[in-house]
Amino acid sequence: MKDLINILDLSISDIDELIKVATDIKAHPTKYADACRGKTLATLFFEPSTRTRLSFEAAMYGLGGNVLGFADGGRMSSASKGETVSDTARIVSIYADIIAMRHHIEGAPLAAGLAARVPVINAGDGGHFHPTQTLADLLTISSECGRLNNLTIGICGDLKYGRTVHSLIAAMSRYQNIRFILISPASLALPEYVIREMNAAGIEYVQTTSLTKYMSELDVLYMTRVQKERFDADELAQDDGEGYILNNETLSTAKPEMRILHPLPRVDEIAVEVDRDPRAKYFEQAEYGKFIRMALILRLLYSSGKDESIKTLKAETKCPNDRCIVAVEPEIERHAYLAPDGKLRCLYCDAALE
Ligand code: NCD
Repeated sequence: MKDLINILDLSISDIDELIKVATDIKAHPTKYADACRGKTLATLFFEPSTRTRLSFEAAMYGLGGNVLGFADGGRMSSASKGETVSDTARIVSIYADIIAMRHHIEGAPLAAGLAARVPVINAGDGGHFHPTQTLADLLTISSECGRLNNLTIGICGDLKYGRTVHSLIAAMSRYQNIRFILISPASLALPEYVIREMNAAGIEYVQTTSLTKYMSELDVLYMTRVQKERFDADELAQDDGEGYILNNETLSTAKPEMRILHPLPRVDEIAVEVDRDPRAKYFEQAEYGKFIRMALILRLLYSSGKDESIKTLKAETKCPNDRCIVAVEPEIERHAYLAPDGKLRCLYCDAALE
C-alpha cells in the first residue's frame, strides 16, 4: 500500500498495528522524536481545516520532520491558474516525502496518489471519505471502550454529506457484532452506496429520525454537524435550521459507560454543558488523532511499498528485466516484495525474480 485513500486500504490487522504504534507513541513520545528527521510532509489543503491539517503538521513535527504546504489551495496554489491535481501532486513529490491532501472534489486524492511518486493520504475528499478521521475514531473507541467488536453505535446528524460517517461505517462494518443506529432527518440520510455496502456486509442497522428513542442501547454516540457548505440551492431553501441537540436532558437515558464522539467542529449539536460529562470524549478524540497520524506517517514512509514483506536484496541479485532501473543504474539499492502469487518480485518493475 503506497497511499491511504479509503479506510479499506488498511486491513483490520494494519489498523491493529497502527493502534498499537499510536498507543506506544502516546506513552513514549520521546522514543519517536527523531523518527522522521530529514523527511518532509506536504499538507495540500483545498478546503478549510483546523484539526486535520494542524494535527498532521503537529504529528510530523513530533516525529522530528519538516512540513510545507498550503491551507487555502483554491486561492493560493496554481490550481487557481488551472493546474490539474495530478500535476500539482507530481510537482510536490519533488519537494516532499509524503503528502496529505484535502480537496472538495471527490476522488482528487486518489488522482494525486496515482500521479505522485510519494505516499498520498486522503485528508478528506468532498462528501466522500475521511480515512484519517476514522483512524482517530477507531483509536478513541478502542482506547475508551476497550474493544472494537460488540458495539451498538449511534450516528447522528448529517449522514448524507458527512464524509467521516461514510468512512467510519465502512471501517466498523468489518468488526464482529456491530449494530448501527442511524439518526437523521430523511433528507440527510446515508447515500445509497453506503447503504448498499452495509447490506452487502450483512450489517444490522436501524434508520430513525429520533435522537432519544435508542439512546439507552448505545455504546457509542457519534454526533456530526450539518454540512451546509455542501447543500445545493434546493437543500438550502428547504433547510429549516432545526437540528438535533445533545444536552443533559436528551442524554438522560444513556448508559453510564456510553462514549460521545464528534469529529468536530461542533456548531450547536452538542450543548456546552455536555463537555463536563465524563462520557464526552470528543476533545480526547482530537488528541488521539495526532498520535494515529504519527503512526500512519511512519507506516507509509517506512514500511509501505507493495506490502509488508519488502526485502532489501543483495547487490548481486539480478532483475531479469533489462528495462528496469536496476539494469540501467547498477548502483541502485535492490528491493523486492512478496506478491500475492507467492513470487518474489522486483519492487521497481514488478518482474518476478528467480
Ligand atoms: C470533519 C471534516 O472535515 O469532514 N472535520 C474533521 O476533519 N475533524 C467534520 C466536519 O467538518 O464536520
